[in-house]
Amino acid sequence: MIALGIEGTAHTLGVGIVTEENVLSNVFDTLTTERGGIHPKEAAEHHARLLKPLLRKALQTAGITIDDVDVIAFSQGPGLGPALRVVATAARALSIRHGKPIVGVNHCIAHVEITKMFGIRDPVGLYVSGGNTQVIALEGRRYRVFGETLDIGIGNAIDTFARELGIGFPGGPKIEELARRGERYVELPYTVKGMDLSFSGILTEAVRKYRTGRYRVEDLAYSFQETAFAALVEVTERALAHTGKEEVVLVGGVAANNRLREMVGIMAEDRGVRFFVPPYDLCRDNGAMIAYTGLRMYMGGVRFSLEDTVVKQKFRTDEVEVTWE
Ligand code: ATP
Ligand code: FE2
Repeated sequence: MIALGIEGTAHTLGVGIVTEENVLSNVFDTLTTERGGIHPKEAAEHHARLLKPLLRKALQTAGITIDDVDVIAFSQGPGLGPALRVVATAARALSIRHGKPIVGVNHCIAHVEITKMFGIRDPVGLYVSGGNTQVIALEGRRYRVFGETLDIGIGNAIDTFARELGIGFPGGPKIEELARRGERYVELPYTVKGMDLSFSGILTEAVRKYRTGRYRVEDLAYSFQETAFAALVEVTERALAHTGKEEVVLVGGVAANNRLREMVGIMAEDRGVRFFVPPYDLCRDNGAMIAYTGLRMYMGGVRFSLEDTVVKQKFRTDEVEVTWE
């Protein structure tokens, strides 16, 4: 079976084509702006403009035509309303025009589900991106959120700090680079509330300290990462302890960070659990994860009528009944 998936919850438009075992193609285009930040209307216009060329490129790369596709999947939420509507409309049009079934996919769940293409069975997922920070795992028939950020996503926190330092967007790779040259840990607020996280305190304090001019930026970048990542690892470890699961996966754009990988890896080794990070193009927002999750859902008997395809800006991770496992 072949599924085509369209991702467009935020600034990345992605089209992916997969089978149960393989990614046949996975192409993207990301709207980047000087200032960073959230631009729902610009994202929607970007997606509308690029949908056709990306669709063509995905089919070409996969070496198939739309007739070979068995199911159309799309990112139904959570995300920016206008961007979601462009993607849903395109998916509906494809479905109707070519007589293919359609499936709406929860974006957060898809980030974790794609790891199952690589033999992962039942993981705790640490999903870290610009807008999202969640620790999720299946419990019974739903993905439960064990911990999440109470304010901003870790990626946004890093990007905002980078902007303050005047080193551009996205800041993640640049902060990582600076942090590697850090020598001294500077105290920053460590915030774990119950199982939840908060990054605004770290951000405010790091910016404040930077503005005093009394700290090396390398030390601040290093301390920022150490503090924020330690909190992420703590919550992930507690979810592993609570669920007794034997696999942990790191997904989302911030999974690119080598120090975060190392820290999660050390924790996993200590606990004797398997640790996996998908290739980066399947970590960041992408169409292949939507296609793969849609394929699994469809094969598991999930069917959508057109009325079911309405977008869900606030689509919760624990809203979906996982009947396809
Ligand atoms: P979502 O819609 O899921 O929130 P997103 O729009 O933030 O996703 P992604 O591609 O998943 O898009 O993630 C981008 C984020 O990843 C940015 O905040 C970027 O700074 C961060 N990032 C990328 N590389 C690194 C890195 N090496 N270290 C830390 N953060 C990184
Ligand atoms: Fe994402």
